[in-house]
Amino acid sequence: LARGGLERDLAGRHVVISAGGTREPLDPVRFLGNHSSGKQGYALAATAAARGARVTLLSANATLPDPAGVDVVHVSTALQLREAALKAVLDADAVVMAAAVADFRPAEYATGKIKKVDGVDQPPITLVRNPDILAELSADRARPGQLVVGFAAETDDVLANGRAKLARKGCDLLVVNEVGGGKAFGQDTNAAVLLGADGAEVAVPDGPKEALADRIWDEVVARLG
Ligand code: CTP
Ligand code: CA
Repeated sequence: LARGGLERDLAGRHVVISAGGTREPLDPVRFLGNHSSGKQGYALAATAAARGARVTLLSANATLPDPAGVDVVHVSTALQLREAALKAVLDADAVVMAAAVADFRPAEYATGKIKKVDGVDQPPITLVRNPDILAELSADRARPGQLVVGFAAETDDVLANGRAKLARKGCDLLVVNEVGGGKAFGQDTNAAVLLGADGAEVAVPDGPKEALADRIWDEVVARLG
């Protein structure tokens, strides 16, 4: 993948990207899921490969074609994504968590279809918290100097929420999207603000998801030793 004018500034690097949205099964016919299409994560994978990186893409239920030259690992649940991520980051220079991870999963999987019961209004589903993969990868870096990047979809006070989330997660960069009103999910364009733990604040105007991906890699390359 040669691209005019762009350096192969990720040559010799291994980057790990999660994409899509996890699904948490309830019973054989139902799951808890979200609207993430996987397009931003796939754009990150394709652009990193074009810049010379070895790329591992952890794809959660995205229905997009595997990008050329990228090692794709298909997962479904948050627990499967965590397991695949912990393994993939062992020799990674950077990891970008673009996937929408379910915060909760059903406490148990029903092997038969869950039925409602006449006269019982209480929903028969109990949820438990999923592990926070991004926080875990940030707290226990698999390698010294490994760069960890998160995403945040926010409404209301987008920047204040983003700054608070960056501090809470402990990652190096947070890509903050404003969502709602048809923004981001499933679209081919995306606008964002990149917040750095070092205080950086880079506004990326609405444009193709590949353009945002390239800006994210610019910030990653600038911070890699
Ligand atoms: N993330 C993760 N594991 C989770 C939840 C989220 O790794 N269990 C990652 C996402 O991949 C994303 C970042 O954390 O990179 C932020 O996700 P978000 O849902 O915005 O953060 P939460 O901490 O779950 O906050 P909220 O309560 O706003 O949903
Ligand atoms: Ca969440």
